[in-house]
Amino acid sequence: MPKRVRIAVFPVAGLGTRFLPATKAMPKEMLPVVDRPLIQYAVDEAKEAGIEHFVFVTGRNKGVIEDHFDRQFELESNLKIKGKLEALQSLQADLPKPGQTSFTRQQEPLGLGHAVWCARDIVGNEPFALLLPDMLFKSERGVLAQMIDAYENTGNNIIAVEETDPEGISSYGVVGRGEGPDTGFEITEMVEKPKREDAPSNLIISGRYILQPEIFDLIEQQATGAGGEIQITDAMQTLMKSQNFTGVKYNGRAFDCGSKVGFLTANIVFALDRDDISKDFMKELQTFATESQKSS
Ligand code: UTP
Repeated sequence: MPKRVRIAVFPVAGLGTRFLPATKAMPKEMLPVVDRPLIQYAVDEAKEAGIEHFVFVTGRNKGVIEDHFDRQFELESNLKIKGKLEALQSLQADLPKPGQTSFTRQQEPLGLGHAVWCARDIVGNEPFALLLPDMLFKSERGVLAQMIDAYENTGNNIIAVEETDPEGISSYGVVGRGEGPDTGFEITEMVEKPKREDAPSNLIISGRYILQPEIFDLIEQQATGAGGEIQITDAMQTLMKSQNFTGVKYNGRAFDCGSKVGFLTANIVFALDRDDISKDFMKELQTFATESQKSS
């Protein structure tokens, strides 16, 4: 039985330049999909997968993420006085337990690989999950939980992948597919942002990883990669020489909430799935669609 995955790392130190000016003073990871911040969805997904410790790699302007995962006594007593007990319970349910969170800082946004490396002392010598909070999933069973199944069967490094259109492939990390089913297949190679003609498949890396701790030393040794940043894919490519990587083509749909279209689509899809607002929201959408048809 492989060592259990207890720790999850959430890199939240990026500048979020695609969402300026919204992200000038507010972290991208606090942008809400309906009424929950992106980072909350990622933490919920990790909790569902059995994660017990949540490590946030933060940066400047990100203090609000730390506050979000803390208690707010004034707010709580206000909700109690006003009898808004459901809201109070839901706030309490969202919180990790005392001592289950750690925060460390990436002093400069030098890239995802560098952000992960900043968590090395907290993670120590254990396998860990890595979740990019701007990737949001709609799935019956959480994507990380699906990956933990593959991890428990293999003890390998695990990467979640999804299919994409060949036109967009050069914006992503792409894997080569070897033997095995969608629930766990051999990864034969990995390329960061390949030209369309060089891509080994149409399977892109989609923001969820389970990695062995040897990755930290490899990140430290590596030079700056694509886009002038320290990339995680470069270190994973080196790790592939000594360890196996398994791909999981998960069940579910991904929304890249780091892009405006992905974020807006996620808001619509998640709102339409909510019992409390879906009817009214659908009515508004239909009215809007009819009006814009008439005026075009
Ligand atoms: P992105 O590249 O999507 O985020 O990184 P970004 O750089 O903030 O966004 P844009 O491209 O400027 O709009 C994916 C995740 O990795 C984190 C980000 O916060 C995001 O959650 N990240 C990225 C870091 O923590 N540090 C970095 O140096 C880069």
